[in-house]
Formats: sequence, C-alpha cells, structure tokens
Amino acid sequence: MSEPSGDRILVTGALGQIGTELVEALRQKHGSSSVIASDIRPEPEQTSNEQGPYVVLDVLDTESMIELCRQEAVGTVYHLAALLSATGEQNPDLCRKVNVGGTKSVLEAARQCSLRVFSPSSIAVFGPDAPKHAPQTTDFNPTTVYGETKVIGESLAQEYFQKYGVDTRGIRYPGLISYKAPAGGGTTDYAVEIFDAAIREGHYNCFVRPDTRLPMLYMDDAIRATLMLMDAPSGNLGPSRAGYNIDCYSFTAQELADEIAREVDGFQCDFSPDVRQKYADSWPDSLDGSVAKQEWDWSPEFDLQKMVRAMLDGMTKK
Ligand SMILES: NC(=O)c1ccc[n+]([C@@H]2O[C@H](COP(=O)([O-])OP(=O)(O)OC[C@H]3O[C@@H](n4cnc5c(N)ncnc54)[C@H](O)[C@@H]3O)[C@@H](O)[C@H]2O)c1
Repeated sequence: MSEPSGDRILVTGALGQIGTELVEALRQKHGSSSVIASDIRPEPEQTSNEQGPYVVLDVLDTESMIELCRQEAVGTVYHLAALLSATGEQNPDLCRKVNVGGTKSVLEAARQCSLRVFSPSSIAVFGPDAPKHAPQTTDFNPTTVYGETKVIGESLAQEYFQKYGVDTRGIRYPGLISYKAPAGGGTTDYAVEIFDAAIREGHYNCFVRPDTRLPMLYMDDAIRATLMLMDAPSGNLGPSRAGYNIDCYSFTAQELADEIAREVDGFQCDFSPDVRQKYADSWPDSLDGSVAKQEWDWSPEFDLQKMVRAMLDGMTKK
C-alpha cells in the first residue's frame, strides 16, 4: 500500500445527514483548514460562516476530483455522496449512477493519487433470505436497488484494495439517528422524524408497522465508529474491511414511540405503513458485530433510552 501524497481530508456529500456531523468532528480532530467539505449542492448560507474550505464537486466528475486532490494535497477521502434507499427506489437509474459510479470515481481518484478511502455501506446489503440476526458474511441478495449498489460498492472497494493496494474501509451503517441535519430519504427516517413531530405536534404518523425492528445507531456513535475504523492499523483489518457489521441497538417502532412517550407528555404515535415497509421488512432485525469488535474493538455507547434523551435535549436546544 503506497503512502498518501498529502494529509488533508476531502469529504464528499458533506451537506448530508452524516457529512454535517462528520465534517465537524474531523475539523475538531485535524484542524479546520485540513478538511475540505464538498457536495453537489452549493454551500447553504447558514453554514457559510463555519470555518473550513468548501467546494462544489459532483462525485461523478473523476477528473475534477483528481485535480482537486492533487492541488489540495488530499490524502484521505470520506465518500458520503449517495442516494439513500427511499429516494433511490424512486429513481433507480440515478441511484445506480450516483452510488456505483460515484464510488468507482472515488476509488479511481484514490488509485491515481494514493488516497485512503472511507466508503460507507449499509444494512441494505442484506436481503430477506439473510438470517434476521445478520452475520458478517452470508449470501447477499438485496431486493432494493439501493442495496444492490451497496453490495457492488463493497466489492469495488475490495477489488481496489486487492488489485491496487488502495486502503479502503467501510461500515455497514444501520439506521442513523441525529438532529443536526435532516435525514436524507432513507427507510429509517421515521426514527428521526418522530422526534421533531413529538416536540412540535405531540403526534407522529409512522410509515412502518409498530413491530418493525431494525438496527439503529445514534449519530455520535456512528461518527466515533467511523473515526475508530480509520485510525485502526491497516494490518488489523481482515477481509471485511470494505463493509463491517457493527454492534448497535435494535428496537421496534413501537418501543421507540413508547420511550419518547415516557419523556414527552401526551405524545401519541399512529402507524400507517407505506411502500417503505417492504424495504424495512427485507432488512435484518439486528447485526452480529463480532468481527468489528475483534479487529478494531468497537462497541456503542448509546442505548435506546440514552439516545432518546440525547435527541430530545439536542432538538429542544436547537
Ligand atoms: N443516514 C443513514 O441512516 C445511513 C444508513 C446506512 C448507510 N448510509 C450511507 O452513508 C452515506 C451518507 O448518507 P447520508 O445519510 O449522509 O446521506 P444524505 O442523503 O443525507 O446525504 C448525501 C449527500 O450526497 C449529496 N450528493 C448526491 N449526489 C451527489 C453527487 N453526484 N456528487 C456529490 N454529492 C452528491 C447530496 O447533496 C447529499 O448532501 C451514504 O453512502 C449512505 O448510503 C446512511
């Protein structure tokens, strides 16, 4: 594996749910000027005062990405630009183009500029035939286009590691719960929207059934896991390096609503499942994260109760 040519960091899809918080964490850790945030959208006015460089970059534009990485001495890319599951199923061609094409573009830039790459995968790689407590390795037969793009993303990352020595790493993120930026069109968005609705209206109409159980993680844990994986010595990482299952918390939509109702007087939740139920039903209930535990010592800090309190506190202050 060749050494990165620079030590600055590029984040693609930086205006999204994860990017908003990852950029902040990376700037705290490495210094503001070391972290270049990028997205296909122009920087919104309210964030323009925040310290640190910002560029408009379409991840499909490999040449511009390579030029930027060379000019700005980038050594690591956190590649977050993607279409999520619900949006992706509405636009399957665009989903394939951005998710597979964008990952290929980043990996090609990494090969040519000796970059380290973090490229997230998702629990959507699993299909309905996978065990409900999903193991690290099984048959991957996703029924969503989004899931297919994540399976391909993992194998592309593996291929670039094995063939070209590119240091690629990834986590199969579960549903991520946060309040700093809106959720980006995924199936687990109900677990984010419910908090805003509880605080503003005391009521939420949930788009999955009450017994829908999915693996979830509070954003602080997701960011910590991401930084831990990127800090792990490469030699510690085995064949799962492009897409680790990680230990997280699993709860049903009803259990989440009940926990919020314990904190927000009078909160009520109704359930009207829509098309997203089908995607949720095809995914696992929980993850076996033992490989991540063994290779880079991951365990989460936020359980359901702690996460609900942190969300309500954060949203109320916001
Ligand atoms: N949020 C979750 O719960 C979750 C769960 C599992 C996996 N993931 C994965 O994590 C990554 C980031 O997810 P997120 O929740 O922050 O997504 P998001 O939808 O909130 O943000 C994605 C960002 O990518 C940008 N983008 C779209 N097309 C682009 C292009 N061609 N070039 C550059 N930027 C483009 C969008 O403008 C957006 O700001 C994705 O790979 C996603 O699949 C997220």
